[in-house]
Amino acid sequence: MADKKFIALTSFVAALGGLLFGFDTAIISGAIPYIKSYFHMDEYILGWSVSSILIGCAVGAMLAGNMADRYGRRAGLIICALLFAVSGIGAGLASQLYLFILFRLVGGLGVGAAAMVSPMYIAEIAPARLRGRLVACYQLAIVFGILAAYFTNYCFSETGPDAWRWMFASQAVPAALFFGLLLLVPETPRWLIMKGRYDAGKEILQKISGAPVPDEEMIRIEDSFRNDNAVTIRQLFRRPYRTVLFVGIIVAVFQQVTGINAIIYYAPTIFKETGGDNASSLMQTIGIGVVNIIATFIAIGLVDKVGRKKLLVTGCLLMGLSMTGVGLCFYFNYFEHYLVLIFMFLYVASFGATLGAVVWVYLAEIFPNRIRSRALSIATLALWLADFAVTLTFPIMTQHLGTAVTMACYAVLCAVAFVYMMVKVKETRGRSLEDIENLFAD
Ligand code: GLC
Repeated sequence: MADKKFIALTSFVAALGGLLFGFDTAIISGAIPYIKSYFHMDEYILGWSVSSILIGCAVGAMLAGNMADRYGRRAGLIICALLFAVSGIGAGLASQLYLFILFRLVGGLGVGAAAMVSPMYIAEIAPARLRGRLVACYQLAIVFGILAAYFTNYCFSETGPDAWRWMFASQAVPAALFFGLLLLVPETPRWLIMKGRYDAGKEILQKISGAPVPDEEMIRIEDSFRNDNAVTIRQLFRRPYRTVLFVGIIVAVFQQVTGINAIIYYAPTIFKETGGDNASSLMQTIGIGVVNIIATFIAIGLVDKVGRKKLLVTGCLLMGLSMTGVGLCFYFNYFEHYLVLIFMFLYVASFGATLGAVVWVYLAEIFPNRIRSRALSIATLALWLADFAVTLTFPIMTQHLGTAVTMACYAVLCAVAFVYMMVKVKETRGRSLEDIENLFAD
């Protein structure tokens, strides 16, 4: 019998990295009106302030690959937990704009690193038949983190002009929990084997599968790590890795440029534009968080059954249609009957049930073992840069082009993503990590 409790505990702990990721990135959505007036921000500075965390994420993703290979996946996550706590308290106490941005950047290092190491940890510890579902649980943790942030924002919203300080500082609570729980879980078997700790790795693999691990399997895993150091970043961009690397990068970028975080980080601002006051905008934003969670459960149910490709393709289509709906409402200034809210819910639901979870699943599994951490670093780096671009430009675009045109841009990108997913993405459902290597062999 596979040790289900063990798999569940380890995946849960690693997924908490996702919870902090969601919390830290989304908390700013409710703080915007407060920090805007406290720091006297215009739309450009606002764009920078919201997106500064994402630069940290990009750097974190770059450093994390190396760190996770050298010190281990678990040690990497422990460092992330510390960064989360420092950043929350620091941003909450900041009295100068540069300090505020600096602490958000520090948090970004943690988010960027955790966003890479958590799914990797789960993929490396999960049995193949459950891998999709377990990595999708990581996305579930992200969206729980987002909802927790929305809820925290709502709770603190009436506490006066210092509300934003509490919003950011509260991030230290889940960070402390994450830190404590990480002390209870082991390293991944694949990392142990990579480091030559063969017996320790084998023992954990046996715990996971519930049966003795055949020698061929161990040799297969060991072989898949061979020449690890021989592959340089430059070589990753050449054959035989080029194809898989580009697919990873492009899929990651599409997850972002199709507009999700314009909604996640700016939802209260958008709702205010439709005529809501502060409290009702924060309430509607909580609705976004809830829809996102329900949709993620759907993704978890579907990812190992329907498969990755179908979900990605369908997701882009539905997101494009609902984003068009949002854009049309703004174009015609039609804010009756909660129509904008309904289209936003539909958009977030389509994202949550598909791209949200599936892109992380896909990234965690398509790269060959021996290049996984480095390739994943590059793909998540691309993801953060794309997120950064969207988040930085959203307030500026809405100011200059209007909300309708901005939404139309995302809808067009959904259409482009749809075509790409249809043509280039390959199905990976149910295959072992070592099998997937051959699928993308150039
Ligand atoms: C995915 C995205 C993240 C986004 C979240 C929203 O995890 O990577 O950027 O905020 O989904 O649910």
